[in-house]
Amino acid sequence: MDVIRIEGGHRVEGVVRVEGAKNSALKLMAATIMAPGVNTLTNVPNISDVHVMGKVLKRLGAQIDVLDEHTLRIDTSTVDSWETPYELVAQMRASTAVLGPLISRFGRATVAMPGGCNIGARKIDMHILGLQALGVEFDLDHGDINATAPHGLIGDTVTLDFASVGATENLMMASVHAKGVTVIDNAAREPEIVDLANLLNEMGAKVHGAGSPVIEIEGVDELHPVTHEVVGDRIEAGTFIATAGIVGTPIEVCGFEPSHLGLVLRKYEQMGITIERGERMVRVYRDKPLASVDIQTLPFPGFPTDMQAQTMCLLALGSESCVITENVFENRFMFASELQRMGADIRIEGHHAIVHGVKGFSGAAVKSPDLRGGAALVMAGLVADGTTVVSDIYHIDRGYERFVEKLQGLGAHVERVTVPDTPVI
Ligand code: UD1
Repeated sequence: MDVIRIEGGHRVEGVVRVEGAKNSALKLMAATIMAPGVNTLTNVPNISDVHVMGKVLKRLGAQIDVLDEHTLRIDTSTVDSWETPYELVAQMRASTAVLGPLISRFGRATVAMPGGCNIGARKIDMHILGLQALGVEFDLDHGDINATAPHGLIGDTVTLDFASVGATENLMMASVHAKGVTVIDNAAREPEIVDLANLLNEMGAKVHGAGSPVIEIEGVDELHPVTHEVVGDRIEAGTFIATAGIVGTPIEVCGFEPSHLGLVLRKYEQMGITIERGERMVRVYRDKPLASVDIQTLPFPGFPTDMQAQTMCLLALGSESCVITENVFENRFMFASELQRMGADIRIEGHHAIVHGVKGFSGAAVKSPDLRGGAALVMAGLVADGTTVVSDIYHIDRGYERFVEKLQGLGAHVERVTVPDTPVI
């Protein structure tokens, strides 16, 4: 079992470069199914979720060569299966991103129904309702979703109840080969959606309006393979920006587009953090106490739920009290009880967290509750009094490449340690 051990109170400063976006890379990998041939993706993060998506594609028959640490060559001409078993979907829910591409290419797909996860029920009913409107028929068989399009896919207007990222992506990919025009109304607007639309258009698709609430897809007969660079990871960038906000000393974060974090940067400025914006980088420091501001998570361009835990960590050291409202996932406050073990004063009431600022954290043994919560606990450890040990760090490995090494590069006293399992008997 690996843990991350952090010795608090050391100076953290310097330059850090972020990788390509996890949430984009996974969907771009799935989209290569629709362009039979050799596709090349660059700036792919070397993280465990990408490894799982690699396994999913290989299971479908694709061949993957790792050209260098961040470049994947994916040959999808050999894809000859449309089944993604629970063993893979259970490892990563985003495996369901192959549903749209498989239906698009083969007119059928069998994908295990994902269960809930530790941040909520995370249903896929909107994916299913949207695809049904395009002519896909579903049945649930022993936990697997069998999807077929007996009469082909036919474009229609689909209005999503909520601007779901995953549903928008699956619908966008499924409709690329549909007859006529598909309109996705109340579509998600995240930068990763735009990256996926760009990839599809480079492949020969006709996707218009990505990044706005209405996306139109005009069906085409075929797509061709391409080379594409994954957009920079705004959430990894946001995590290091929050780190600079908590330690106060300057950190330069490069390799992402600052406008992709528009509201986060503005909220952080209200908290007293200085952010100097440059081309694909920001320089961040703080020379005054952290002010408390209210936050509510919403789909893009709202405040991202994926930055909620890191921001709670900052606000827990705020000068007054504030309220964080989580509107995207129903169960994303588990991080708060771990932070309380380090001295934070947070009360959860439904989907609100009432945060009373405290003077400092004290190092403790804590458990990473999920991907972003895990990273936020490491952040807290950097300024805590004494030593913090974060366990269950496989969550962090899902989405952060070389997190410990990057923090060490900034001067942090942090290390990954293998702790032998204690036998029960
Ligand atoms: C993606 C991101 C995740 C991010 C989230 C919101 C990936 C791999 N993950 O997740 O990091 O936190 O967007 O920005 O890209 N919902 C339904 N029915 C559906 C679909 C969604 O009820 O059919 C609900 C979910 O349970 C959740 C909310 O809608 O409460 C948002 O989900 P969605 O935007 O779809 O998130 P994901 O695509 O799963």
